[in-house]
Amino acid sequence: MSITAIVGAQWGDEGKGRIVDYLAQKANLVIRYQGGDNAGHTVINEKGKFALHIVPSGIFNPETMCIVSAGTVVNFDTMAIELDAIHASGVTTDNIFIDLRAHLILPFHKLLDGAEEESRKENWAVGTTKRGIGPCYSDKATRIGIRAGDILDPARLRTRLEMLLPKKNRELEYFGLPHTDIEQVMELCARWKHRFGPNIIDSVPIVRQAVLEKKEILLEGQLGIMRDLDWGIYPYSTSSNPTSGGACSGAGIAPSRIDTVVGVVKAYSSSVGGGPFPTELLDSDGEKLRAVGAEYGATTGRPRRCGWFDAVAANYSCWINGFTDLAITKLDILDSFERIKICIAYRIDDTIVTDLPDTIGQEKAEPIYEEWEGWLCSTAHARTWEDLPIKAQTYVLRLAELVGAPIKFISVGPERDQIIIMDK
Ligand code: GDP
Ligand code: IMO
Ligand code: MG
Repeated sequence: MSITAIVGAQWGDEGKGRIVDYLAQKANLVIRYQGGDNAGHTVINEKGKFALHIVPSGIFNPETMCIVSAGTVVNFDTMAIELDAIHASGVTTDNIFIDLRAHLILPFHKLLDGAEEESRKENWAVGTTKRGIGPCYSDKATRIGIRAGDILDPARLRTRLEMLLPKKNRELEYFGLPHTDIEQVMELCARWKHRFGPNIIDSVPIVRQAVLEKKEILLEGQLGIMRDLDWGIYPYSTSSNPTSGGACSGAGIAPSRIDTVVGVVKAYSSSVGGGPFPTELLDSDGEKLRAVGAEYGATTGRPRRCGWFDAVAANYSCWINGFTDLAITKLDILDSFERIKICIAYRIDDTIVTDLPDTIGQEKAEPIYEEWEGWLCSTAHARTWEDLPIKAQTYVLRLAELVGAPIKFISVGPERDQIIIMDK
């Protein structure tokens, strides 16, 4: 039994939900450790096709307890809609709990997210999901936020809101937006308490017991390292830490207790939103990756920017996250490409670099590629290493060598069983 962090190794949308859903078949606990309903984790299994935004991808196993942990920001309205849709598909949703320390996304956070993004549109546009993530984490950091536990105590909630709302109303006024009325928020929170009150818990004793009993625990990240607040392409980042370090602080599990860190990497690259993306392809190969890979945002529907695999970024990702295993996803998307490229270095101002620079360096980076022959046959039915064509084996082995971690999973389709498990 083990504690495994499932971490996005690129710019997000690597297939984390798909891997968590697979592993959750044997998990006792799945903990979402950061982010909010900005996630779009697509899961396809015997219950149907789901785009999960805040609900952990372990929800489909009725034996698994799902916790939305202290490191997250939660919009209970969207969580309710999501849970109702899952429930309507015949899935039990009684097994989801929210740590009382999780911060709440309130309606004005979304308004401010939209207005702040609009103000950046000429320059520095992050391309946020407009779910209120940044403004909510901002209130958390300045210690004026409202936490899930606050709604259980209306008197406390009111005094917290009396401190918060005048500040927020000044910001809303600055953007020409209507003020928020305290009674409306009190009413909203009363409604949320009625629905989610029994599910708001202190997760520490539960997680502690599970760890001590050596239960199978999965820590599910949202987004990828390149959008990490500290180690990503700031300011084009999200407002929390999807990295494995963020898994510890977000889920409340000490680093020394985590056995396995699975880095989820797509066999190529995609990114949604602003900021540098050195291997972005603005040609027919990029269009083909988007079309064949169905690269459209699960939360916003936006077309994803696509490009070849960036080993400079993925090797950095492996170092910062300490991957013990790799899950390579969407290998099948490359099935029809005659030539496949891997970025092995950048040229920046006539210098060749293999260490990922920060945002400014990435903005100037020109990718240097090595080229591989495509295998030109379907991998979708492969279930063992031997089922893969030699050229596909060579390609994934090269990826793993460049990233610096061994391959544990190779995903060749979106369905739960379209996966190869490597023994060694
Ligand atoms: P996440 O945010 O990291 O969970 O990833 P997303 O769900 O946003 O994006 C991954 C997309 O690729 C989803 O539509 C998945 O159903 C799909 N997917 C995952 N793994 C594979 C795979 O190996 N092959 C194919 N064809 N699709 C996959
Ligand atoms: P999953 O979990 C891809 C991007 C946005 C924007 C930046 C900040 O499916 O990998 P935010 O709304 O968090 O303030 O936006 O991060 N972004 C994502 N990109 N997948 C996601 O989630 C994302 N969540 C946010 O496009 O550039
Ligand atoms: Mg996604």
